[in-house]
Order: sequence, then structure tokens, then C-alpha cells
Amino acid sequence: MITLYEKLDNKNINSEVIEKAAGILQKGGLVAFPTETVYGLGANGLDSEACRKIYEAKGRPSDNPLILHIGDISQLETIVSDVPKAAEKIINAFWPGPVTIIFNKKDIVPDSVSGGLNTVAVRFPSDEIAKRLIVSSGLPIAAPSANTSGKPSPTKAEHVLHDMDGRIDMIIDGGSCGFGLESTIIDVTGDKPALLRPGAVTKEMLEAVVGDIDVDSAVYKQLSKDEKPKAPGMKYTHYSPEADVALVRGESNEKVIAKINSLVLSDKMAGFKTGVLCCGKNADKYAADIVLSAGDDIETVGARLFDILRRFDLLGAEKVYSEVFDEAGEGMAVMNRLKKAAGHKFIEA
Ligand code: TXA
Ligand code: MG
Repeated sequence: MITLYEKLDNKNINSEVIEKAAGILQKGGLVAFPTETVYGLGANGLDSEACRKIYEAKGRPSDNPLILHIGDISQLETIVSDVPKAAEKIINAFWPGPVTIIFNKKDIVPDSVSGGLNTVAVRFPSDEIAKRLIVSSGLPIAAPSANTSGKPSPTKAEHVLHDMDGRIDMIIDGGSCGFGLESTIIDVTGDKPALLRPGAVTKEMLEAVVGDIDVDSAVYKQLSKDEKPKAPGMKYTHYSPEADVALVRGESNEKVIAKINSLVLSDKMAGFKTGVLCCGKNADKYAADIVLSAGDDIETVGARLFDILRRFDLLGAEKVYSEVFDEAGEGMAVMNRLKKAAGHKFIEA
């Protein structure tokens, strides 16, 4: 298959490209498109066969359900059976934007989207290209992140091209994604809202709108074999570069730097190519072969994280050490992804 590649300017969107992409979706094809979180791999969310192609292109386990994306709030009632009060409040506060809500589904939503669950995940993205594409197609668009299953989500079109060239019909290049981490997922189908995946809309921001919320334990820790996360996708290994990744934490910045440098030194002597992921202010303190700075404020770290994990692969890093970040606010989402990238491996400084 030849993958079409089209660039779009977010501020001056070429309608012809949008119409071409919408036509592909209507005919059951796959189109990768930018959103404010990460690039999505879109298909007609009401067409089982089109959704099956998503699983094939990504190598995604079939029990991992997809998010339906809407481009207009009126699409919501066509796919969900009820909108609880808490959902209404979250919608008013954060849609369109980087939060996905789990609802009870209507029968029209196929099992290939819901993974056989009675619920469906819905997101209304704020990205202009994403909205235009969804509205033009006239469909709810099923879209997981547009990466090969297990790899970091794509935050640039070149990441999508790397993973999906020849496997999908079209890629729309709309530049870098603003947030760079996947949407926050909140389940409102139970008695109390539950956070299933942290993102740029933080626990604190949600609690300001709906009061106390539960946090699924899969957000913090690695689950044992018989524990099940509420978001099926949270159980899979994710974001893993080819390198061995470990997170180094300690009482002070100096101790962490010293520990990482001693680990790097012994790895280098053993012949390994080493990498360090650090905050901006520490970028000149490390002796590793590859030092990648994630920036100093947590929003920048979130926006750069997946690109950095992919760059370690491109540069051939074999042993990667990462500093840890404060888990307040968006830090919860950053650390959730980093812990997964490291297989929850911590080293104490
Ligand atoms: O930011 C995002 O959410 C991106 C962009 C493209 O919108 N999409 C994304 O999709 O991250 P994906 O498929 O990579 O992650 C969706 C997550 C998975 O962990 C999946 O298990 C969970 O949502 N999920 C989907 N439907 C669910 C449901 N009915 N109940 C619980 N979790 C669900
Ligand atoms: Mg994903």
C-alpha cells in the first residue's frame, strides 16, 4: 500500500486535503491525523471491518478498546446511552480538549471499538485539523494513538511515518502535538468518577469540577498478573525504547547526578552506548554518550517525552537512565509514562 502524505497548516487548513482524507475514512480506509495530545490513527468508528484494520496496522491486541472521536457535541447522543451529571460537568469544563470520558454505549457502537465492553470511550479533540476531519467525514472516528503497539505514541508526523508507512492510506502532517501525552481518561459509569489514565487535564483540575475522584491503581504501579486495570490498555508494556531504561531517584539533585554518572561510567567501560534523560538545568552535568534534555517545566517535559524516547532508539542507546519528575499536576501523567517506559525499574541514588 502506498501511504499518501499531506502537510496541513493548522491556521489555514486546505479543504481539499480534508475532503480527500474524509473520503478515505468514509470508504473504510485509515488516516493518521494530528490532535492536541498525540497523533491518532483514524477509521470509521461504526464500521467493524475498518476498525479491524486499525488493530492490524498497529499490531494491537484485540481486547484493547478504541476511543471514538467526535467533532461536534451533537454526535455524542448517537453513540452513548446516557450522560451522567459528572460527565456533563466535565464536558462543560474541558471539551473540546484532552480528556476522554467513558460512557455506557449504544448498540450502534461495534464490539471491535468497545472490545466487547458495555461502555465506550469518547473524546472531543480541540485540534482544528482533527475537528475539521471528523466533521467532514460525518462519522465518529475510532482512533488509537498512531504508533506500533508498545512503542511511544507519535507526537510528530515523522513518528507516524516511521511506524505506519505502507500500512495505512494517508498521514496528515499538522506539525508537533501541543500536549504530547495521551488524553486523561475518566470513567463516569460508576458511583464515583474514576481516573483511569492521567493526562494534561489533571486530577486536581477534574476534582475542582466534580469533587473527589478515585484513581485506578494501574496509574501508579505495575499490576500483578491477576489484577485488571479498568482501562484494558494500561496493562500492556508501553513506551518502551529498545534500550534498558531505569529511573534514578534520590534525596538531592547532586546525589542523582553522581549516581547516574557512576552507572554511565561502568556501562561505558562494559562497551554499552549510554543515554540520559534529564531536566534542562542538568543537561551539561552528564558524561553519557547521548544526553537529552526534557526542559524544566512539566508541560515541556510532557510535550517532549515521547520524541526523546524515540530519539534514544534512533541514536542506538543501549542503557538509558532518567531523572524522575515531581508527580504533582501533569507530573502524574509524565511519571506514569516514564515508569512504564522503564518497566517500573527504580535505582536509589
Ligand atoms: O489522546 C488520546 O487519547 C489519543 C488521541 C489519538 O486521541 N488516543 C489514544 O488512544 O491514546 P489509545 O487507543 O492509544 O488509548 C486508549 C486507551 C486504552 O488504554 C484503552 O484500553 C482505553 O483507552 N479504553 C478505550 N475504551 C475504553 C473503555 N470502554 N473502558 C475503559 N478504557 C477504555
Ligand atoms: Mg496508545
